[in-house]
Amino acid sequence: MRKLWGGRFDGQPDALIDKLNNSLSFDARLWREDVEGSIAHAAMLGAAGILSETESSEIVAGLKALAAEIENGDTQLPEDAEDVHTAVEGLLRERIGPAAGKLHTARSRNDQVATDIRLYLRRICDSVNEAIHSFQTALADASERELGVLLPGYTHMQHAQPILLSHQLLAYFWMLDRDRERFTDCRGRINRMPLGAGALAGTGFPINRRMTAESLGFDSILPNSLDAVSDRDFAIEFLAAAAILMMHISRLAEEIILWNSPEFGFILLDDSVTTGSSIMPQKKNPDAAELSRGKAGRVYGDLITLLTVMKGLPLAYNKDMQEDKEPLFDAADTLLTVIPAMEKTLATAKFQAKRMEYATKGDFSTATEAADYLARCGLPFREAHEVIGRLVRHCMEHSIGLEELDAGTLLKFSPLLKPDVLPLLSPAAAVEARSSQGGSSSASVREQLILARIRLERK
Ligand code: ARG
Repeated sequence: MRKLWGGRFDGQPDALIDKLNNSLSFDARLWREDVEGSIAHAAMLGAAGILSETESSEIVAGLKALAAEIENGDTQLPEDAEDVHTAVEGLLRERIGPAAGKLHTARSRNDQVATDIRLYLRRICDSVNEAIHSFQTALADASERELGVLLPGYTHMQHAQPILLSHQLLAYFWMLDRDRERFTDCRGRINRMPLGAGALAGTGFPINRRMTAESLGFDSILPNSLDAVSDRDFAIEFLAAAAILMMHISRLAEEIILWNSPEFGFILLDDSVTTGSSIMPQKKNPDAAELSRGKAGRVYGDLITLLTVMKGLPLAYNKDMQEDKEPLFDAADTLLTVIPAMEKTLATAKFQAKRMEYATKGDFSTATEAADYLARCGLPFREAHEVIGRLVRHCMEHSIGLEELDAGTLLKFSPLLKPDVLPLLSPAAAVEARSSQGGSSSASVREQLILARIRLERK
């Protein structure tokens, strides 16, 4: 397909350089945005009197017909085009003839590509938002269903204090909620229009940027043409939000993997989210969770790629910036696969309540409760900590749990340790005692669930 810039050149580009330069293999997927932006631009050119009404409507009608043909598979983008913009313009020329050449009046591929990416990312932000919302709903549903199930809470991977399984699941709900906020927030900065910036300095034609912004649904117009064509901070923000989301997902994935191991046995994953081994017949591997954990790596890579591409670039557009697309597409594809995969993994999992509760027994995870009891009796918490530490050592030496101690032994460690401390040392009582706002008691978790449902009302 004919280049958009042949006039100045005598020679043909080297085949290898042509290959290096070509972006159609990856930017073809922007064809919808490219056509959408071109339709708005052509309509504006007509309304502003830069093109005649007939030329403008001919171009708009041609673009609409072309979009319909590409959509239903009747037309393919020509493989030999330099990029998606060249391909679309070339196909338009095949349909409406030389008038197609007028579409590029008062426009450059520099403001065109920046517009296309923003239109694309705006849509991806909405899809990611929806996917996170659905995952959050699954987490809230599981928390509600499993309310009352006890789980050892960990710090340093050691049993720390017993908690409710629902509390742990909701922790991920709130992480995802902030992720959703980040995508919403970054969508606001994505949704500003570069079109009309021209190659870098604006245009001498009397364009109406307000009109194109309105028809493309942009919230505002970027006020500096150099900035409009040369920054990709909005894309980096998207990738940063994606990387943080993947970090959260990788943590949940890791817990699911651990919980699904025979050592923990806290969860049974559904056949639909696991795979077998080619050699070990007994295996059922948590592949969906492992891949979700692993793919955090590539999304971090996408972020670092674009940050590095942009570092030190002089104003305004540089061809380096063509490298912005693959990391964006990769991150978008990854998120839109991983989020629903993790939702499915969690929503179909069977929580092993008995195993979890059993794990809270005899693990000294109610020791803080005993120390709190002494502190409530007036002993400074530091001393209380010391006394209970000795008590735990005693239990370990005698292979018993804290909840199995008798009244006589307790008194030997402190005259303040009356028998009424004993019922407080059961994991269930320790959980219920943590009734502070945001705590793990069932009342606190129920309140938290109400807050979670309120958040879900906001799409
Ligand atoms: N394929 C290019 C990109 O993705 C389009 C912009 C080309 N602009 C130029 N001045 N060569 O960045």
